[in-house]
Amino acid sequence: MFEVKPVAGALGAEVLGVDVRTLNQAEFAELRRLWGEYLVLFLPGQSLTPEDHRRFADRFGEVDVEPFVYPFLTPTVEGHPEILKILKEGGDRTINFGGLWHADVTYRARPHMAGILYAIETPPAGGDTMFANQYLAYETLSDGMKARLAGLRAVHSNLMPYGGGEARIGAVGRDHVPREADRLAENSPYGASTIETVIENAHPVVRTHPETGRKFLFVSRAFVDRFEGWTREESLALLEFLWDHAARPEFTCRYRWSAGALGIWDNRSAQHFALNDYYGARRHMHRIAVHGERPV
Ligand code: SIN
Repeated sequence: MFEVKPVAGALGAEVLGVDVRTLNQAEFAELRRLWGEYLVLFLPGQSLTPEDHRRFADRFGEVDVEPFVYPFLTPTVEGHPEILKILKEGGDRTINFGGLWHADVTYRARPHMAGILYAIETPPAGGDTMFANQYLAYETLSDGMKARLAGLRAVHSNLMPYGGGEARIGAVGRDHVPREADRLAENSPYGASTIETVIENAHPVVRTHPETGRKFLFVSRAFVDRFEGWTREESLALLEFLWDHAARPEFTCRYRWSAGALGIWDNRSAQHFALNDYYGARRHMHRIAVHGERPV
Protein backbone atom coordinates (compact mmCIF):
# COMPACT_ATOMS: atom_id res chain seq x y z
CA MET A 1 0.00 0.00 0.00
CA PHE A 2 2.88 2.35 0.84
CA GLU A 3 6.53 2.59 -0.13
CA VAL A 4 8.47 1.66 3.00
CA LYS A 5 12.21 2.27 3.36
CA PRO A 6 13.83 0.97 6.55
CA VAL A 7 16.20 3.50 8.11
CA ALA A 8 18.37 0.96 9.97
CA GLY A 9 18.45 -2.71 10.84
CA ALA A 10 17.12 -2.25 14.36
CA LEU A 11 14.12 0.04 13.92
CA GLY A 12 12.73 2.98 11.99
CA ALA A 13 11.28 3.28 8.50
CA GLU A 14 10.43 6.04 6.11
CA VAL A 15 6.97 5.81 4.61
CA LEU A 16 6.90 7.64 1.32
CA GLY A 17 4.18 9.13 -0.81
CA VAL A 18 1.68 9.52 2.03
CA ASP A 19 -0.37 12.60 2.89
CA VAL A 20 -1.49 12.02 6.48
CA ARG A 21 -4.38 14.46 6.05
CA THR A 22 -6.17 12.19 3.64
CA LEU A 23 -5.57 8.66 4.94
CA ASN A 24 -8.67 6.49 4.86
CA GLN A 25 -9.34 3.91 7.57
CA ALA A 26 -7.61 1.05 5.80
CA GLU A 27 -4.55 3.20 5.09
CA PHE A 28 -4.41 4.40 8.67
CA ALA A 29 -4.68 0.80 9.90
CA GLU A 30 -1.75 -0.14 7.65
CA LEU A 31 0.27 2.79 8.97
CA ARG A 32 -0.38 1.61 12.54
CA ARG A 33 0.65 -1.89 11.60
CA LEU A 34 3.91 -0.56 10.18
CA TRP A 35 4.37 1.51 13.31
CA GLY A 36 4.11 -1.65 15.41
CA GLU A 37 6.70 -3.33 13.18
CA TYR A 38 9.24 -0.49 12.94
CA LEU A 39 8.54 1.39 16.26
CA VAL A 40 9.24 4.73 14.62
CA LEU A 41 7.97 5.93 11.27
CA PHE A 42 9.08 9.00 9.34
CA LEU A 43 6.83 10.58 6.74
CA PRO A 44 8.69 13.31 4.88
CA GLY A 45 7.02 15.93 2.73
CA GLN A 46 3.92 16.67 4.81
CA SER A 47 2.26 20.07 4.80
CA LEU A 48 0.45 20.35 8.10
CA THR A 49 -1.25 23.17 9.93
CA PRO A 50 -1.41 22.74 13.73
CA GLU A 51 -5.04 21.65 13.23
CA ASP A 52 -4.00 18.94 10.75
CA HIS A 53 -1.31 17.76 13.14
CA ARG A 54 -3.86 17.55 15.96
CA ARG A 55 -6.44 15.75 13.80
CA PHE A 56 -3.85 13.15 12.86
CA ALA A 57 -2.74 12.67 16.48
CA ASP A 58 -6.38 12.20 17.54
CA ARG A 59 -6.53 9.07 15.40
CA PHE A 60 -3.93 7.41 17.66
CA GLY A 61 -5.75 8.02 20.94
CA GLU A 62 -6.22 10.59 23.67
CA VAL A 63 -3.97 13.60 23.07
CA ASP A 64 -2.07 14.90 26.09
CA VAL A 65 -3.01 18.46 26.93
CA GLU A 66 -1.29 18.67 30.33
CA PRO A 67 1.35 21.37 30.52
CA PHE A 68 4.83 19.98 30.00
CA VAL A 69 7.23 21.90 32.13
CA TYR A 70 10.41 19.97 32.77
CA PRO A 71 13.12 20.97 32.89
CA PHE A 72 12.58 24.34 31.32
CA LEU A 73 9.41 26.15 30.47
CA THR A 74 8.52 24.81 27.08
CA PRO A 75 6.34 27.08 24.96
CA THR A 76 3.30 25.78 23.11
CA VAL A 77 1.85 26.81 19.79
CA GLU A 78 -0.60 29.70 20.12
CA GLY A 79 -4.14 28.42 20.53
CA HIS A 80 -2.81 24.84 20.85
CA PRO A 81 -1.75 24.04 24.42
CA GLU A 82 -1.33 20.41 23.29
CA ILE A 83 1.41 21.27 20.75
CA LEU A 84 4.87 21.79 22.19
CA LYS A 85 6.99 24.26 20.33
CA ILE A 86 10.48 22.77 20.41
CA LEU A 87 12.48 25.72 19.21
CA LYS A 88 16.20 26.33 19.56
CA GLU A 89 17.52 29.58 18.16
CA GLY A 90 20.85 29.87 16.39
CA GLY A 91 22.61 31.72 19.17
CA ASP A 92 21.43 29.39 21.92
CA ARG A 93 24.33 27.28 23.22
CA THR A 94 22.51 25.72 26.16
CA ILE A 95 20.94 22.29 26.54
CA ASN A 96 18.30 21.26 24.04
CA PHE A 97 14.93 19.66 24.58
CA GLY A 98 15.27 15.89 24.79
CA GLY A 99 19.04 15.76 24.44
CA LEU A 100 19.61 12.50 26.27
CA TRP A 101 18.26 8.95 26.07
CA HIS A 102 14.70 8.85 27.30
CA ALA A 103 11.12 7.94 26.67
CA ASP A 104 8.80 10.87 27.35
CA VAL A 105 7.29 11.59 30.80
CA THR A 106 7.89 8.10 32.20
CA TYR A 107 7.69 9.61 35.70
CA ARG A 108 3.92 9.83 35.20
CA ALA A 109 1.58 7.00 36.20
CA ARG A 110 0.57 6.73 32.53
CA PRO A 111 3.51 7.67 30.33
CA HIS A 112 2.82 8.55 26.72
CA MET A 113 2.08 5.91 24.15
CA ALA A 114 3.22 7.99 21.18
CA GLY A 115 5.13 11.11 20.26
CA ILE A 116 4.22 12.77 16.95
CA LEU A 117 6.86 15.26 15.90
CA TYR A 118 6.59 17.61 12.94
CA ALA A 119 9.64 19.42 11.55
CA ILE A 120 9.03 23.09 10.74
CA GLU A 121 12.62 24.28 10.26
CA THR A 122 15.75 22.18 10.38
CA PRO A 123 19.44 23.12 10.60
CA PRO A 124 21.55 22.80 7.44
CA ALA A 125 23.39 19.98 9.22
CA GLY A 126 22.76 18.25 12.53
CA GLY A 127 19.68 18.22 14.76
CA ASP A 128 19.01 14.54 13.98
CA THR A 129 17.08 12.38 16.42
CA MET A 130 18.24 8.91 17.44
CA PHE A 131 15.91 6.11 18.49
CA ALA A 132 16.70 2.81 20.23
CA ASN A 133 14.73 -0.44 20.08
CA GLN A 134 13.96 -1.61 23.61
CA TYR A 135 12.62 -5.01 22.55
CA LEU A 136 16.11 -5.77 21.27
CA ALA A 137 17.60 -4.35 24.45
CA TYR A 138 15.61 -6.87 26.48
CA GLU A 139 15.90 -9.84 24.15
CA THR A 140 19.71 -9.61 24.03
CA LEU A 141 20.15 -9.88 27.79
CA SER A 142 21.36 -13.17 29.23
CA ASP A 143 18.87 -15.51 30.87
CA GLY A 144 20.58 -14.74 34.18
CA MET A 145 20.02 -11.00 33.80
CA LYS A 146 16.45 -11.53 32.60
CA ALA A 147 15.79 -13.56 35.75
CA ARG A 148 17.34 -10.82 37.92
CA LEU A 149 15.14 -8.15 36.33
CA ALA A 150 11.89 -10.13 36.49
CA GLY A 151 9.57 -8.46 38.97
CA LEU A 152 11.95 -5.55 39.57
CA ARG A 153 10.48 -2.06 39.46
CA ALA A 154 12.25 1.23 38.84
CA VAL A 155 11.33 4.59 40.31
CA HIS A 156 11.01 7.25 37.60
CA SER A 157 11.19 10.82 38.83
CA ASN A 158 10.76 14.23 37.28
CA LEU A 159 13.54 15.49 39.52
CA MET A 160 16.13 13.52 37.62
CA PRO A 161 15.97 15.17 34.24
CA TYR A 162 18.52 17.26 32.61
CA GLY A 163 18.57 20.85 33.75
CA GLY A 164 18.96 20.14 37.44
CA GLY A 165 21.99 19.93 39.67
CA GLU A 166 22.41 16.26 38.85
CA ALA A 167 21.89 16.75 35.16
CA ARG A 168 22.94 13.80 33.04
CA ILE A 169 23.27 15.87 29.91
CA GLY A 170 25.82 18.07 28.27
CA ALA A 171 25.47 20.97 25.87
CA VAL A 172 28.04 20.33 23.19
CA GLY A 173 28.48 22.32 20.04
CA ARG A 174 30.72 21.95 17.04
CA ASP A 175 32.73 24.93 18.21
CA HIS A 176 32.78 24.71 21.97
CA VAL A 177 33.27 22.25 24.76
CA PRO A 178 30.47 21.63 27.24
CA ARG A 179 30.23 24.43 29.75
CA GLU A 180 28.81 23.71 33.18
CA ALA A 181 26.47 26.73 32.96
CA ASP A 182 24.92 25.49 29.71
CA ARG A 183 23.65 22.39 31.47
CA LEU A 184 21.30 24.39 33.65
CA ALA A 185 17.76 24.95 32.55
CA GLU A 186 17.74 28.36 34.21
CA ASN A 187 20.24 29.48 31.58
CA SER A 188 18.06 28.37 28.69
CA PRO A 189 16.23 31.21 26.93
CA TYR A 190 12.96 29.93 28.38
CA GLY A 191 14.13 29.76 32.00
CA ALA A 192 13.85 26.86 34.40
CA SER A 193 10.53 25.41 35.32
CA THR A 194 8.99 27.08 38.32
CA ILE A 195 6.82 24.08 39.12
CA GLU A 196 8.25 22.16 42.02
CA THR A 197 5.81 19.29 42.25
CA VAL A 198 7.65 16.02 42.54
CA ILE A 199 6.16 13.32 40.35
CA GLU A 200 7.49 9.83 41.01
CA ASN A 201 6.09 6.55 39.83
CA ALA A 202 7.49 3.03 39.92
CA HIS A 203 7.13 0.95 36.75
CA PRO A 204 8.28 -2.57 35.85
CA VAL A 205 11.85 -2.65 34.52
CA VAL A 206 10.63 -5.16 31.95
CA ARG A 207 7.29 -4.22 30.43
CA THR A 208 4.99 -6.17 28.17
CA HIS A 209 3.76 -4.23 25.17
CA PRO A 210 -0.05 -4.05 25.24
CA GLU A 211 -0.35 -4.43 21.46
CA THR A 212 2.44 -6.81 20.47
CA GLY A 213 2.65 -8.84 23.69
CA ARG A 214 6.46 -8.64 23.46
CA LYS A 215 8.68 -7.77 26.43
CA PHE A 216 10.90 -4.72 26.41
CA LEU A 217 13.29 -2.89 28.71
CA PHE A 218 11.87 0.25 30.32
CA VAL A 219 14.62 2.22 32.07
CA SER A 220 16.05 5.51 30.84
CA ARG A 221 19.00 7.56 31.92
CA ALA A 222 16.81 10.66 31.95
CA PHE A 223 14.17 9.68 34.46
CA VAL A 224 15.05 6.55 36.43
CA ASP A 225 16.36 7.33 39.87
CA ARG A 226 16.62 3.91 41.51
CA PHE A 227 15.03 0.50 41.80
CA GLU A 228 12.06 0.30 44.10
CA GLY A 229 13.18 -0.84 47.55
CA TRP A 230 16.88 -0.27 46.70
CA THR A 231 19.06 2.71 47.58
CA ARG A 232 20.37 4.92 44.82
CA GLU A 233 23.90 3.68 45.47
CA GLU A 234 22.80 0.06 45.21
CA SER A 235 20.86 0.79 42.05
CA LEU A 236 23.45 2.76 40.15
CA ALA A 237 25.85 0.04 38.98
CA LEU A 238 23.08 -2.10 37.48
CA LEU A 239 21.36 0.97 36.05
CA GLU A 240 24.57 2.10 34.38
CA PHE A 241 24.83 -1.28 32.69
CA LEU A 242 21.18 -1.20 31.56
CA TRP A 243 21.32 2.40 30.32
CA ASP A 244 24.42 1.65 28.24
CA HIS A 245 22.99 -1.61 26.97
CA ALA A 246 19.65 0.02 26.05
CA ALA A 247 21.42 2.45 23.72
CA ARG A 248 23.93 0.12 22.07
CA PRO A 249 24.55 1.42 18.55
CA GLU A 250 23.25 -1.87 17.09
CA PHE A 251 19.80 -1.14 18.56
CA THR A 252 19.51 2.39 17.17
CA CYS A 253 18.61 4.40 14.12
CA ARG A 254 19.28 8.04 13.42
CA TYR A 255 16.99 10.27 11.38
CA ARG A 256 17.98 13.35 9.45
CA TRP A 257 14.97 15.68 9.49
CA SER A 258 13.80 17.87 6.65
CA ALA A 259 11.14 20.56 6.90
CA GLY A 260 7.76 18.86 6.51
CA ALA A 261 8.88 15.49 7.90
CA LEU A 262 6.60 13.88 10.47
CA GLY A 263 7.95 11.34 12.95
CA ILE A 264 5.77 8.97 14.99
CA TRP A 265 7.47 6.96 17.73
CA ASP A 266 6.22 4.29 20.05
CA ASN A 267 7.09 5.87 23.38
CA ARG A 268 6.96 2.50 25.12
CA SER A 269 9.23 0.23 23.11
CA ALA A 270 11.61 2.93 21.84
CA GLN A 271 13.77 5.53 23.53
CA HIS A 272 14.97 8.63 21.73
CA PHE A 273 17.72 11.24 21.90
CA ALA A 274 17.63 14.66 20.19
CA LEU A 275 21.16 15.57 19.15
CA ASN A 276 22.41 18.99 20.18
CA ASP A 277 25.03 19.44 17.47
CA TYR A 278 23.78 22.43 15.46
CA TYR A 279 24.96 25.39 17.47
CA GLY A 280 24.61 28.48 15.31
CA ALA A 281 21.54 27.18 13.45
CA ARG A 282 17.83 27.23 14.21
CA ARG A 283 15.73 24.12 14.74
CA HIS A 284 11.96 24.29 15.12
CA MET A 285 9.69 21.30 15.68
CA HIS A 286 6.10 20.80 16.90
CA ARG A 287 5.29 17.82 19.10
CA ILE A 288 2.00 16.28 20.13
CA ALA A 289 1.89 13.35 22.54
CA VAL A 290 -0.75 10.68 23.00
CA HIS A 291 -1.56 9.22 26.42
CA GLY A 292 -0.56 5.65 27.11
CA GLU A 293 -1.62 2.98 29.55
CA ARG A 294 -0.41 2.12 33.04
CA PRO A 295 2.74 0.03 32.45
CA VAL A 296 2.62 -3.68 33.24
C1 SIN B 1 11.78 14.97 22.27
O1 SIN B 1 10.58 14.79 22.18
O2 SIN B 1 12.45 14.46 23.15
C2 SIN B 1 12.46 15.85 21.25
C3 SIN B 1 12.72 15.16 19.99
C4 SIN B 1 13.41 16.05 19.00
O3 SIN B 1 13.32 17.29 19.12
O4 SIN B 1 14.04 15.52 18.09
